[in-house]
Amino acid sequence: MFDRVIAPSLLAADFSQLREEVQRVERGGADWLHLDIMDGEFVPNISFGPAVVSAARKHTQLLFDVQLMVRRPAVFIAPFVEAGADSITVHVESQHVGGVRSTLALVRGHRCKVGLALNPDTPLTTVEPFLDAIDLLLIMTVHPGFGGQTFIPGTVEKIEAAYVRRAALGLDFRIEIDGGITGETAASGLLAGADVLVAGTWLFRAPDMPTAIRDLRILPGRETTPIKR
Ligand code: DX5
Repeated sequence: MFDRVIAPSLLAADFSQLREEVQRVERGGADWLHLDIMDGEFVPNISFGPAVVSAARKHTQLLFDVQLMVRRPAVFIAPFVEAGADSITVHVESQHVGGVRSTLALVRGHRCKVGLALNPDTPLTTVEPFLDAIDLLLIMTVHPGFGGQTFIPGTVEKIEAAYVRRAALGLDFRIEIDGGITGETAASGLLAGADVLVAGTWLFRAPDMPTAIRDLRILPGRETTPIKR
């Protein structure tokens, strides 16, 4: 059974108040902090680097869920582990010099949780060969690069397919969704089989973050086959 994870995305925070924002997320009852790393090449935006992650690390015990939206992820694994990442997700669409599996092994080698992300236009079959090597599958529900976008409903089918495939293969990676997640869009993602919700704008702009996090936590989900721990 996967207990639900709520992972606010720091991208939507007020960076002039980094410590307060990170502590607001923790006090708000979140489980993870999602950190969007963008290099301006893989996506047409630049966000923040290891220095910001290590600054945030000082102020919270939350699990750091780092998503590398970068052209060459292998280059950045050690610096973000150093900065305090607990989990690192790379994009299947990025450049993997020794192949995707070697990048995943590089993350694993740093005793870090391993995630693999795919964009809305990337078919699930692209990540199929690597599902046995990951702890987390991130199904992007917007085209990566910017917060505040609208959830792409067509991605629900992929979430459902990933859920079915995971059960068929007897694997236990988590299914994370990210992009335009609100109380409403989360509902369809959860019923399709997602168990980790990344939300930036909806949580940071909510009148009360603890209530918004609770609202996501109590939404009905899809029962998963109990996983022996
Ligand atoms: C897109 C980013 C966003 C961010 C959350 O590259 O990955 O999805 O985490 O954004 P919103 O504001 O849509 O929740």
